[in-house]
Amino acid sequence: MSDDPDRRALALLDGTRLDAATLPAFRDGALAAEAAGVTHTLRRYPGHPTVSLPRPRPRRLTALDATLLGRRSVRHLGARIPSAKTLGALLGLGFGVHETVGRGPTPSAGGLQSLSLYLAVLGDGWLAPGAWHYDREAHALAHLDAPTDPAVWRELLVSADQFVGGALLWILVGDGRAIGRKYGDRAARFLLLEAGHLMQNLCLLSHSLGLCTLPLGGVLDDRMARALTLLPTDRVLYAGVCGPPA
Ligand SMILES: Cc1cc2nc3c(=O)[nH]c(=O)nc-3n(C[C@H](O)[C@H](O)[C@H](O)COP(=O)(O)O)c2cc1C
Repeated sequence: MSDDPDRRALALLDGTRLDAATLPAFRDGALAAEAAGVTHTLRRYPGHPTVSLPRPRPRRLTALDATLLGRRSVRHLGARIPSAKTLGALLGLGFGVHETVGRGPTPSAGGLQSLSLYLAVLGDGWLAPGAWHYDREAHALAHLDAPTDPAVWRELLVSADQFVGGALLWILVGDGRAIGRKYGDRAARFLLLEAGHLMQNLCLLSHSLGLCTLPLGGVLDDRMARALTLLPTDRVLYAGVCGPPA
């Protein structure tokens, strides 16, 4: 690894560059994975208590342009959990399944649907404390066996002192198994890109629904993974605190 800090910052990317030398193995790996039937899966938590969410109805008069221009990270957030209708709209429009094979608003490398979205309750309202998994297929939340004290979740955020309040904490998780088999060393890059797509959906939809999502890259990764009882092949990629601007 380079001693130059500017170059070291790019090690993740440089180590997974595609060029004439690396392209054949990359292409062969992807084709072999397809031939072996590596396909998408949508994570579910059968047997866990669930809450169904109202299906979103597309709002025909909501201009994307105004949403794009208006989105900003707000650092004073209210603690009121968005209503079931608002949360249903946010999750369904941002990360729901609207077609076969798990396809929806968030692009997915190889269509493998490697991302999972969790949320932890930071504020007050109708949702029971603790952590929930968004079941994309059922458009429902599954309650997990996880810490219920919001302080535990806040402790896992490096910059918890740089914002006030918040109702929900989004936690974006990548499953490395299928994508790793298909894309090898480039898989981590793809997971991060995919998480960026999802986070932008959450940021824009939050703004258009009268909320704000402040994205947070500073997360204590392994402790967060343990709090959610993630698989050893999962990685926490990104988090975001969401609430009404105060
Ligand atoms: C990849 C990424 C990671 C970020 N991580 C943090 C973070 O850990 N803590 C924080 O307070 N803000 C974080 N932010 C929010 C930025 O500070 C914020 O987007 C920036 O100040 C620009 O403000 P704006 O979002 O209003 O345009 C992050 C943003 C991005 C894109």
